[in-house]
Amino acid sequence: MTVGTGHKGGRPKKVKKAVFPVAGLGTRFLPATKSLPKEMLPLVDKPVIQYVVEEAIASGIEKVIFVTGRGKDAIENHFDRSIELETLLEKRNQGSLLEVVQHISNMCEFWYVRQKEPLGLGHAILKARDIIGDDPFAVLLGDDVIHTDGTPGLRQLMDVYEERGKSVIALEEVPAESTSKYGVADPEWRDGPLCKIKGLVEKPTANPPSNMAVIGRYVLTPGVFDFLEKVRPDAKGEIQLTTGLNAFCAKEEMFGLLFTGRRYDTGDKLGFLKATVEYGLRNGEMGREFASFLRSIKY
Ligand code: G1P
Repeated sequence: MTVGTGHKGGRPKKVKKAVFPVAGLGTRFLPATKSLPKEMLPLVDKPVIQYVVEEAIASGIEKVIFVTGRGKDAIENHFDRSIELETLLEKRNQGSLLEVVQHISNMCEFWYVRQKEPLGLGHAILKARDIIGDDPFAVLLGDDVIHTDGTPGLRQLMDVYEERGKSVIALEEVPAESTSKYGVADPEWRDGPLCKIKGLVEKPTANPPSNMAVIGRYVLTPGVFDFLEKVRPDAKGEIQLTTGLNAFCAKEEMFGLLFTGRRYDTGDKLGFLKATVEYGLRNGEMGREFASFLRSIKY
């Protein structure tokens, strides 16, 4: 076994664990997120975080690790069983609702680690180190909801990982003026949707190395932890995942994938509204009526 690369013999180990850093305060969505975790805002009838967890499960993840913080109990409760509610639904013969409710806690194994202080994404990921051990793992940011008509977003990255055995990061081309909102990849080469990453810059204020922005999906080999441990806090006192990845890609090959699908930043008010419209229109029960309502609005 090659220590730290997530390799076992010749074939890469399967990615079974996913880390969801959910300790962030959601200040972009105040006042809605004053007491409600941003991850629990509903898109039609499911909290945003459930879409992202379902994407992970559909991609083959079996163990979800939430890195939570103060005020995030609603997330734990959502993915736990609710015996009172189940008993009530059973008593009322509401079998299909009971199934919907039970499905949530039965999806996979859920683990919780606490990030005591909001010291950045890199710091959050480090909190999961003991649970990850020497396994490759995924990271999914709950704000980014990805709609695809085919292969789930994370699965697209896992396919590349399984072929190459190296870390893979989801990328999206964004307008030049938006690069300052993202981690931005510096590609060594690009071949269609795939590129090899030689550097990453977090939220560049000038001279972004490309227009390929990092989106909230990563498949990482465990060697990344040693690099994250060495990251110095930035001006805001945060340990950035991007900074750790920038150092790591100099040591171990790392790939970027321009994924196929549509990404919504639901931590942003406009992004959330756009996602609501897409998921509302796609809803089997009320999509048609919603579409005709939207058409009827004279604006
Ligand atoms: C985080 C990452 C950034 C990435 C973005 C994607 O930033 O630090 O590299 O591009 O997620 O959503 P945040 O949006 O948490 O500030």
